Amino acid sequence: MSSLLVDNIGELVTNGVGADPLGIRRRAAVLVEEDRVVWVGPSAYAPAADHRIDVGGAAVLPGFVDSHAHLVFAGDRAAEFAARMAGEPYTGGGIRTTVGATRAATDGELRATVRRLRGEALRQGTTTMEIKSGYGLNVADEARSLRIAAETSSETTFLGAHVVPAEYADRPDDYVGLVCGPMLAAAAPHAKWIDVFCERGAFDVDHARAILACGQAAGLGVRLHANQLGPGPGVQLGVELGAASVDHCTHLSDADVDALAGTAHTDGFGTTTVATLLPGAEFSTRSPYPDARRLLDAGVTVALATDCNPGSSYTSSMPFCIALAVREMRMTPAEAVWAATAGGARALRRDDLGVLTPGARADLVVLDAPSYLHLAYRPGVPLIRQVIRNGVPQ
Ligand code: NIG
Ligand code: FE
Repeated sequence: MSSLLVDNIGELVTNGVGADPLGIRRRAAVLVEEDRVVWVGPSAYAPAADHRIDVGGAAVLPGFVDSHAHLVFAGDRAAEFAARMAGEPYTGGGIRTTVGATRAATDGELRATVRRLRGEALRQGTTTMEIKSGYGLNVADEARSLRIAAETSSETTFLGAHVVPAEYADRPDDYVGLVCGPMLAAAAPHAKWIDVFCERGAFDVDHARAILACGQAAGLGVRLHANQLGPGPGVQLGVELGAASVDHCTHLSDADVDALAGTAHTDGFGTTTVATLLPGAEFSTRSPYPDARRLLDAGVTVALATDCNPGSSYTSSMPFCIALAVREMRMTPAEAVWAATAGGARALRRDDLGVLTPGARADLVVLDAPSYLHLAYRPGVPLIRQVIRNGVPQ
């Protein structure tokens, strides 16, 4: 069995149990065997290994866990972005433009886009990336979107209920029947999760509940797009169904925050339903940011993700989202880094990710900086010096 020692780490973020939430260790080393972390401790006591990387006092943290991305699509919507920056509002109506382009694309074109964006994210430190369907919106194109997504990630999500496609515009009940019937049957073999865009103009709460219940019955875990464009019942539906995550959470009532806080584990390890915040979407739609401070102060577990998609948030950069969360959403740098690593892992219900403790997956990021603080302190700067994924230097 081959071993790798990552040595001479000036500041190691473990997210393990410790005096501070990031479980920071100084002058540390990490020993990796195959794809797992097997030892973490002081550099001075580091065991011998087959290979050694000396990071020269740099900061090391767990790879980013991006728990919300829409990578299977064709075309872009740069003109729609420009119109928004000139004053047009974002309504989600552009989703149908991307559906048209996606249906017309070949498998090879879709695969190339997924790989390009996944590679882009990896170079920015993302070692796990969830991928949704949702731009096919018919049986064949949703199934192929998920088949292609599954070539790149084991965290795949069926989002057949993204919007009602144009051909079903005047019979949404029939579309819900299609999603719950043949579309789910074709998608489920390639998907781990089911998601619904529960929002005015997309799916109402009754349709969303029906679709998510069908997905659960087919063995898929529940996540939701909710309360992005306005207040609504989506977050509380997520809590009712035991969702792993409710995503966006931009417009929340006190009752929504209380409902999320009420899902707290009895062992004190946060909430079973995570609030995943997607500040790239507010940036790119010039909208008010969600109030992370309010959620954190109520005891809700918060994750950060990119929402990478061609309409509302065409960024694959977790460092960018961390910087936005700190500057615009009242998160501390430590809270934002935790949310982008351990928080994302919680949102995917993965206890092997987002931490650097013995037994965890060996997904590490080496920064070109002495501290994780630089991720927010130096926005827009390429600070990712090296990525190790599954124990393999990339
Ligand atoms: O998460 N809100 C729904 N879906 C995406 C937007 C997709 C698009 O505009 O193409 C989101 O923001
Ligand atoms: Fe999204």
